Amino acid sequence: MNRRAALLGAALAAFAGGSAPRAQTPPPAAGGLTAEQDHRLMLDRLGIKTLRPGVDGYNSAAPNYVNQDEAKAGPFSPLPDPLVFPDGRPVATPDDWWKRRRPQLVELFSREEHGRVPQRTPEIRWRVVSEKHEVRNGVAVRERRLAGDLDNRAWPAVSVSLDLLLVTPEGRGRRPLVLEFGFPDGAPWLKGRPAPPGPDWRDLVLARGWGYAIVDPTSVQPDNGAGLSRGVIGLVNHGRPRAPDDWGALRAWAWGASRVLDFLATDPAVDDRRVAIEGLSRYGKAALVAMAYDQRFAAGLIASSGEGGAKLHRRKRGEQLENLAASGEYHWMAGNFLRYAGPLTVDDLPVDAHELIALCAPRPVFISVGNDQADGWVDSRGMFMAAVAAGPVYRLLGARDLGLTAFPEPLTLAADGELAFRQHEGGHTPGPNWPYFLDFASRYLERP
Ligand code: GCU
Repeated sequence: MNRRAALLGAALAAFAGGSAPRAQTPPPAAGGLTAEQDHRLMLDRLGIKTLRPGVDGYNSAAPNYVNQDEAKAGPFSPLPDPLVFPDGRPVATPDDWWKRRRPQLVELFSREEHGRVPQRTPEIRWRVVSEKHEVRNGVAVRERRLAGDLDNRAWPAVSVSLDLLLVTPEGRGRRPLVLEFGFPDGAPWLKGRPAPPGPDWRDLVLARGWGYAIVDPTSVQPDNGAGLSRGVIGLVNHGRPRAPDDWGALRAWAWGASRVLDFLATDPAVDDRRVAIEGLSRYGKAALVAMAYDQRFAAGLIASSGEGGAKLHRRKRGEQLENLAASGEYHWMAGNFLRYAGPLTVDDLPVDAHELIALCAPRPVFISVGNDQADGWVDSRGMFMAAVAAGPVYRLLGARDLGLTAFPEPLTLAADGELAFRQHEGGHTPGPNWPYFLDFASRYLERP
């Protein structure tokens, strides 16, 4: 049987309610696995006995307390060069990049870090859950709550429904839009608390005549290892544990954002060629992953994304790769990524964060971070260095880099080119950087 026929056969078997044969995939555990069990199972499949522990961000007396001393931060080994082919030849032209080098990097990131999106993913059907017309801060808006139901006929034990809030200014014309990975009803941990100081980003966006949307990532894929048998990952895998190069939550969340973008392309109120994506922290990582893999996203605000986001893995400051590989965070990543926390090391990783940023080139990316005291875990300098090291790819494609190479003073705005960086006065939030990002993004999104 050729490969096509084999795939078709598997798909038909799945649709008929039978289980699609999946090479070497163990059967689902009754009742599901805990994150620790699923993590251990993945380590067993990889033949790994133990992983090196991550750093401790809380207990300053701990021997593995997180490093914040720049003298010990490095990177002490060379970064992989995005503009050199594996055989040593230079990547000399945009054609070299688009046709040959970029696909190589996409493959490496997919296999080793984020996992692969399955060849077949479930169809999605959108329905309007509620709709109202309102005035928000002086702007007349149409507010829709939508549910994107995934076709689960092949595995009815798992239901997945994307939760999306879409708010667009009333009136004619297709508008730019900012899509946030977040919580349509507000972050649960901010319930009942006073609003943070400064303007609300949603009002700033509407004041420009743009729309905004918020998709709840956890409606695409739960944010824990036990949830890997559910969400879109569990649905596609029929509840079975992942293969080592299967997608992790970051890639699944990014996939969800791409499905939202598909929907926005059908909406007469939105110009899908002018959609920016934004996220904070783990969702900042997801926003960067979404931009890197889906070239339709026109701009990105990547806020305090840190390790696994815009921060160089090879930096020994702030959170470390080993933290990502532990049972509380491994579900964000592909199983293969755990190998770099033992026996391999970060120096064996064939890619680093500057290349993830480079996959966004030549599109505009704004790297945002708070002050070093409150936001030290994400290593602002490590993210700045990654943005600098992505610069040659931007230049090769005729775009402008960050425009500086020395780490700037806090509050300095570096945004003359297509890569931007600003360390704001607040903590672990995009808050104070929103006006700067919107000015930066408007250069691209308000262009006809
Ligand atoms: C933890 C984790 C970070 C992550 C953050 C968040 O601090 O170590 O990698 O970015 O949670 O998402 O809030």
